[in-house]
Amino acid sequence: MALNLILLGPPGAGKGTQAKRLAERHGLLAIATGDMLRAEVAAGTEIGREAKAIMERGELVPDALIIAMLRARLATPEAKAGFILDGFPRTVPQAEALDALLAEQGMALTAVIELAVDDQALIERIAGRFSCARCGAGYHDRFKPTKVPGVCDICGSTEFVRRADDRPETVAARLAAYHRQTAPLLPYYRAKGLLVTIDGMAPIEAVAEALDRVIAERAH
Ligand code: AP5
Repeated sequence: MALNLILLGPPGAGKGTQAKRLAERHGLLAIATGDMLRAEVAAGTEIGREAKAIMERGELVPDALIIAMLRARLATPEAKAGFILDGFPRTVPQAEALDALLAEQGMALTAVIELAVDDQALIERIAGRFSCARCGAGYHDRFKPTKVPGVCDICGSTEFVRRADDRPETVAARLAAYHRQTAPLLPYYRAKGLLVTIDGMAPIEAVAEALDRVIAERAH
């Protein structure tokens, strides 16, 4: 049975950081709807034009647009071998659509893992976040600096970027959207017996180890 995971948590909880690592370690397809939308914005597509202003306000883009993007990605052969969803679903209608898509494809979720983090810590994490402009490797001013200051550990580039929606006023709107629209997914998945909560306040390596333990328990 393929390993099909959802990482759930507020902005800055560490979903992207852990999803990239899990994808490499377990050979899973990482599907990050935020990254997919940012690629559409950068390419200036119709989806990107529709999503740009919504993302800059810290609100959620319409369910129908996201579900169509996800449907295409889940239908690929890579997804059949196992996937990790980062940033999807984010509303109850998205979760219901995912259930229907998986049932259509004969697939099932292994676990939904919540990274639980205090709102105050999230603000600090997001304020310090930056990534390599060339290869996309993610860093943090304090919690995950580059080994050599100003030089990407992975590709050696000296160009870095910060996200347009990481300004403090937008982060507050993103957190509010999480509590209002995404937190109801916790009881949704708890009722299905799929929810596992881990402490996202722990250091990055400790969170990674906790995730590996959950996977080892659930993968049978
Ligand atoms: P998206 O890109 O999904 O952003 P998000 O959910 O707000 O999450 P982030 O990427 O900000 O945080 P993360 O949890 O991945 O944390 P990270 O690992 O980077 O979505 C952006 C926007 O797109 C949304 O606002 C919405 O408009 C739209 N969108 C996307 N999906 C959608 C959907 N399904 N429906 C509707 N709209 C959608 O970590 C953060 C920082 O902390 C990093 O610097 C990292 O190094 C550091 N860090 C990570 N873990 C730790 C740790 N344990 N200790 C200390 N530091 C840590």
